[in-house]
Amino acid sequence: MLSPFDVLLPRPVEATAAEGIFPLDETTALTGPLPAVEWLRTQLRAATGFPLTESGSSAITFSVDESLPAEGYRLEITPAAVRVSAADGTGAFYAAQSLRQLMGPAAFRRAAVHSGRWELPCGTVVDHPRFGWRGCLLDVARHFLPRSDVFRFLDLMAAHKLNVLHLHLTDDQGWRMEIERYPRLTAVGGWRERSTVGHGKLGALDDRPHGGFYTKDDLREIVAYAGERGITVVPEIDVPGHTQAAIAAYPELGNTGADLGVWTGWGINPNVVNVSDETVKFFRDVFDEVIEVFPSEVICVGGDEVPLGQWRESPDARARMAEQGLTSEAQLHGWFIRQMAVHLAERGRRIIGWDEIAEVGDLPPGAIVASWRGEQAGVDAARAGHQVVMCPEQHVYLDHRQADHPEEPIPVGYLRTLADVYAYEPVPAGLDADAATRVLGAQTQLWTEHLDTPRRLDYAAFPRLSAFAEVVWSPAERDPEAFLRRLTDHHLPRLDALGVEYRPLAGPHPWQTRPGVPGLPR
Ligand code: ACM
Repeated sequence: MLSPFDVLLPRPVEATAAEGIFPLDETTALTGPLPAVEWLRTQLRAATGFPLTESGSSAITFSVDESLPAEGYRLEITPAAVRVSAADGTGAFYAAQSLRQLMGPAAFRRAAVHSGRWELPCGTVVDHPRFGWRGCLLDVARHFLPRSDVFRFLDLMAAHKLNVLHLHLTDDQGWRMEIERYPRLTAVGGWRERSTVGHGKLGALDDRPHGGFYTKDDLREIVAYAGERGITVVPEIDVPGHTQAAIAAYPELGNTGADLGVWTGWGINPNVVNVSDETVKFFRDVFDEVIEVFPSEVICVGGDEVPLGQWRESPDARARMAEQGLTSEAQLHGWFIRQMAVHLAERGRRIIGWDEIAEVGDLPPGAIVASWRGEQAGVDAARAGHQVVMCPEQHVYLDHRQADHPEEPIPVGYLRTLADVYAYEPVPAGLDADAATRVLGAQTQLWTEHLDTPRRLDYAAFPRLSAFAEVVWSPAERDPEAFLRRLTDHHLPRLDALGVEYRPLAGPHPWQTRPGVPGLPR
């Protein structure tokens, strides 16, 4: 008897197997008042070739049960019927995702390759997520990801019950969001003349321009597509550092007046924006256009890795410090972040920022701290009463190397194997129960300096993102052996059917290696 526990990934809260199967064939009906039913009908019509209309001799029926926990669902499969109760639209969508997983890998194809009836194993599943923030950052600034690939990535996130796409839209190497008021941000900042191939310290420049950007309508489409899949898109405009592409477009934003160009290197850049009234206004205008497109209550203002050298040399920066009674350039960093936070708060939004923002001054009310340099910043912020999202680079940076295999492509960062990611615990040890309630969840990062194509992104993300999905969705107890069995027997075949070019557990395929391109392991 196949238990849903043996099949579903992420693992559900409760599951019981029962005798028998529910046969799904051309006579099966699919009914219910929820958009998830239409989504499932579209997927399964394509994969099975069956009509799955509203009436038939046996039925899969969706209904709402508001007594269930948020985003939760209950699934009951008997030989005669499939009954789904869902807390809300998102819960119904996750139930639909689980049903598709129970049908087997062929249910993930876009056209029918399996002939005859399908069999759903009988039993019940009761399920809801452990955390409300189940995130993944996609860096579309270092390497632009075409919109069709963003849609595909959203589908993959949804298949793993992940619900926050953190879209890193700007950096030194590219500005990717159309801002109508400042068109040079994309006309100039949206592309670079060449790129460094390999680690920032060791790589060599190619001769190939790289660029691309999303129009506001492109982004509205991405937001809507994500929303239909229960995913909130949190946009990031990274300030006051990581801004060379913006300064290249509008040199008056910088501190030196130099014509910098969009950066062609990787790493931390000394160029930061200046702290004039005009620059503050410029970025307030930018955020106004951002919130016009992105309905997310939470907006990311970046705030990471801000070298202070240019402010130290700047009479204008010193004048601002004196005016504001600030005693260090680091406090100027905090001041700049607060200018953005207050502006956004007046418009009903609140910020998330990288954990440096907790060091450089008082956190604005409602600010969420993204704990990336380790876990301590998250622990301190949660204890101080702030909400946190855990994303420590030592644990969940998926651009970092996933093995010590000699042929690992461009191996950078910390070694984080599939087993390491699966073992990650978002609530740091020692956090008291009250502070732990402020851990909203966790987020993986896919920085793309070395992930220059969707194929490279697949390799870095999977199957580790599948392990991470279980970390943020499933109850805290882990069973690594059972996970690996489920992954190997059921989930990798699903990823194959979806066309995901994940890293094979034994090591890269020859075409996934990058001989001669230098990485730099930490
Ligand atoms: C970061 O990785 N610089 C947030």
